[in-house]
Amino acid sequence: MKELNWQDIWEDTRQQRMRPLKITYDTDFRAKFAEDQSAVAKYNNYEYGRAATEVLGEILDKDCEVLEIGPGSGTLTIPVAQRVKSIVAVESSDMAVDYLKRNLEESRVENVTILNANWLDVDDREIKDGFDLAVCSHFLWQVKDVEEHLRKMENASRGYCAVIQPAGRAEIVKELWRKITGKDYSGEFDPDADYFVYLILRLWGRLVNVRIMNYSIERNFEQEVRYIASFIGRYVEVDANVKEVIEQYVSERNKEQQSAVVMWWTL
Ligand SMILES: C[S@@+](CC[C@H](N)C(=O)[O-])C[C@H]1O[C@@H](n2cnc3c(N)ncnc32)[C@H](O)[C@@H]1O
Repeated sequence: MKELNWQDIWEDTRQQRMRPLKITYDTDFRAKFAEDQSAVAKYNNYEYGRAATEVLGEILDKDCEVLEIGPGSGTLTIPVAQRVKSIVAVESSDMAVDYLKRNLEESRVENVTILNANWLDVDDREIKDGFDLAVCSHFLWQVKDVEEHLRKMENASRGYCAVIQPAGRAEIVKELWRKITGKDYSGEFDPDADYFVYLILRLWGRLVNVRIMNYSIERNFEQEVRYIASFIGRYVEVDANVKEVIEQYVSERNKEQQSAVVMWWTL
């Protein structure tokens, strides 16, 4: 079998997924969306993070020192922090750091150290084998070189690594694609692409535990429209007309549970 270069395939997929966001129906979209994300992170007392923490339960304990990459406003950080000794959270965005600080304070969580830095600039020698668990959630699209990211995670861990990524959102894209573009969807754009991690790790010989977790998130109508626009808008311009199509879709759609995949492995 011809050997496939997963790095090149990842880069193509990522370039499509990370095209600049084109939202023209609301000039305040970004600020509102950031606020939505923080509210959603906390939904039902951090249901997403609690579900992930349950799945990772067997590898978390009170002595565990954790490195989290890209914590955002604390979706995963806060429930994990309540189960472990400490977390170092590496976050590059000042806005996310502000939300995270606020949420940590509100939850009275005091064992998280925030490193306001770019993960890719963190010196591998300084963090080598420094943590029992290196984890990232909803972070894969942020990295150009997914193998390098996984290698950095493994370097930082003396025990386990875990990647949590949304899964199953391709259905939304498929349904909306035709309504917006008038064409059949043929995989132009993958909103999740979680399977790359599994493929790469298996090629490295790692035995990866994989579990799907379900969770619910309550978004109001405008928040749901913004959520869908935040990924559809990478591919088509979301102007007032496209917004109407999304609104129609949201009003007809049966709200189902959301899913994410949790992958963890030991070194
Ligand atoms: C999609 S959010 C995910 C937030 C949270 N982990 C969650 O599961 O909801 C990705 C986060 O990673 C941060 N980020 C992106 N690139 C980064 C980098 N190179 N170093 C550190 N943080 C980064 C972003 O600022 C953002 O807060």
